[in-house]
Amino acid sequence: PLPVILDGDPGHDDALNILLALASPELQVLGLTTVFGNVGLDRTTLNARITRELIGADVPIHAGADRPLVRPRISAEAVHGDSGMDGPDLPTPTRGVETQHAAHFIIEQVRARPGEVVLVPTGPLTNLALALRLAPDIAALVRGVVWMGGSTDTGNWTPAAEFNALADPHAAHVVFTSGAPLTMFGLNVTHQAIAHPARVAAFRALGTRVGEFAAVLLEFFAEHHRERYGWEGGALHDPMTVAWLLRPELFESRPMHVAVDLTDGPSAGRTVADVWNVTGQPQNVRVATAVDADGFFALLVERLGRYP
Ligand code: BDR
Ligand code: CA
Repeated sequence: PLPVILDGDPGHDDALNILLALASPELQVLGLTTVFGNVGLDRTTLNARITRELIGADVPIHAGADRPLVRPRISAEAVHGDSGMDGPDLPTPTRGVETQHAAHFIIEQVRARPGEVVLVPTGPLTNLALALRLAPDIAALVRGVVWMGGSTDTGNWTPAAEFNALADPHAAHVVFTSGAPLTMFGLNVTHQAIAHPARVAAFRALGTRVGEFAAVLLEFFAEHHRERYGWEGGALHDPMTVAWLLRPELFESRPMHVAVDLTDGPSAGRTVADVWNVTGQPQNVRVATAVDADGFFALLVERLGRYP
């Protein structure tokens, strides 16, 4: 199996990504690492523990950065609720977290398996940036980085910027310029996969605890998207990363040069993708551009259906 580390800020869609990965025998999840983002680090870490407890998975959790490198911290209670995972009844987990910082865990695991580990960040890129600054050698040792964040077009937190990119643009810059092979699932593709009621019903129809958990998560997640965009459901951002590792044929993508706007103006945090290669700069990112949304949701339902 492909060794992966899931780094995120659960988060409704982060939690579904964790469940997707841990249901998939093609992957060996070495650990979950957490970062501030949708809510504060204490809460994203608790939510990772809750998600692990729900399925009784045996995987270590390492907490990481509680703030961005430079900018003031932002958070997304407006989308995810005060808990960061509002909706379902959340159990109190018993197993705790490891003492090692997420950045050190990432470095250790990547060095132990040169050329093998795929890092899968679905939040601000702060942990990866810290790891890359502490150990620049790991850029050449990772098999890949598959990130949900950014966009080739409009943002969702400002007109220009997507949340994960804006939450720590400097960290994104470090990762984008590191030389590590990077694939980006931005809003331009994640907004193609809306969890509308019929898709939510398919999770509920599994008739299992995990199926119901997913359905209730998606129903809460839909509320913000209905109000903000007038959509019938939430855009299922984060699980595209793991879905890509499992079923790349569900996606279209192509290499582009992408830079992150580090200025403080209205375009702060924008991922500026050279879609037409007008600059001729080296193509540092494989950018996902299209998804077979029905196939993507079918994969999720099938995998989550593997939990008893
Ligand atoms: C991203 O921001 C968070 O709210 C989601 O979990 C996702 O990672 C979408 O912009
Ligand atoms: Ca996320």
